[in-house]
Amino acid sequence: MKLFQALVFALMLMLMTTGIFATVSAQGDAARGKDVYLKNCAVCHGDRGQGRIGATLAKEFPSIRQNALVKEIISNGVAGSVMSAWAKGKGGPLSDAEIDDLVAFVNSLGRQAPTAPTGPTATPAPLPPPPPSFPPGDATRGTKVYAENCAVCHGERGEGRVGATLQKEWSGIDPEKFLDATIARGVAGSRMPAWAKFAGGPLSEQEIADSAAYIRTLKPARTVATVAPSTQIPTGGDIGGPLALACTGLLVVAGVIVLGLGLAGSRNKK
Ligand code: HEC
Ligand code: HEC
Repeated sequence: MKLFQALVFALMLMLMTTGIFATVSAQGDAARGKDVYLKNCAVCHGDRGQGRIGATLAKEFPSIRQNALVKEIISNGVAGSVMSAWAKGKGGPLSDAEIDDLVAFVNSLGRQAPTAPTGPTATPAPLPPPPPSFPPGDATRGTKVYAENCAVCHGERGEGRVGATLQKEWSGIDPEKFLDATIARGVAGSRMPAWAKFAGGPLSEQEIADSAAYIRTLKPARTVATVAPSTQIPTGGDIGGPLALACTGLLVVAGVIVLGLGLAGSRNKK
């Protein structure tokens, strides 16, 4: 009987530790976070968090509860800057689990490059002067520029995501010029960054003209239904919930078994 009780106890222990592991993995996974990061954040923060349009992320964040601070910033964005809110609850595209993964990834950056110069973070600057004239754009080249820099906010085919839809008729006297200027200088007071090098952005005038040419090939969306599936992002981070639930269920079952055995044991002794 003793051996049997020890076995049951061991089983209980095993179940409990699996339960604990399940909660730990819900804390966020840096490897998964890297995927989410490359798709959504690298465009502004650089592929290793070194900074591009957005601030450098390869640094220590000044907080005792660093995780909570970083999560808060990613979820809610930074008011008055192009850093938007990413949490679904705040109108963004990312689930809570994905943001946990991002926090884990951002923290791993800090440890990789503890000496990275922080410097002043990008401050929202007033609009730069009107752009010079742009060279003619090439839509084929623009496809690449667009995919690398714009799809993150405007959707893969301009259907809109964090940024406005670009599938529309560009009216006005000179839509080409309007597009060049808007892309180059950004939209003040919105999340649309300025992309031109002369405005502090990463793109050359040729790249801007190319992306503008590409945008003009986008057709207005025909139905709402074509937009919905493409704006859906694979979550992939929701395993923690069901797993933890399953573990709790197993624990309850194990508890009942142990209780039953205990009862049986005490009856046997009588
Ligand atoms: C359009 C460009 C852009 C994108 C895309 C973007 N950010 Fe940012 N982010 C910024 C800018 C600009 C700042 C600096 C805001 C300020 O302090 O004025 C910032 C600030 C931050 C900060 C705070 C840095 C600090 O030093 O306090 C974190 C953390 C952060 N971003 C994480 C992310 C993550 C994670 C993603 C992807 C989900 C993301 N950002 C996507 C532009 C961007
Ligand atoms: C961080 C998100 C973000 C990124 C990245 C981004 N945009 Fe935008 N963009 C926006 C938002 C938000 C608006 C709407 C601004 C407003 O009018 O309030 C916008 C507006 C625009 C407009 C004007 C749309 C209109 O109807 O007037 C154009 C054109 C545009 N973006 C092109 C681009 C191009 C090209 C790129 C890549 C080089 C790009 N955007 C990257 C967020 C973004």
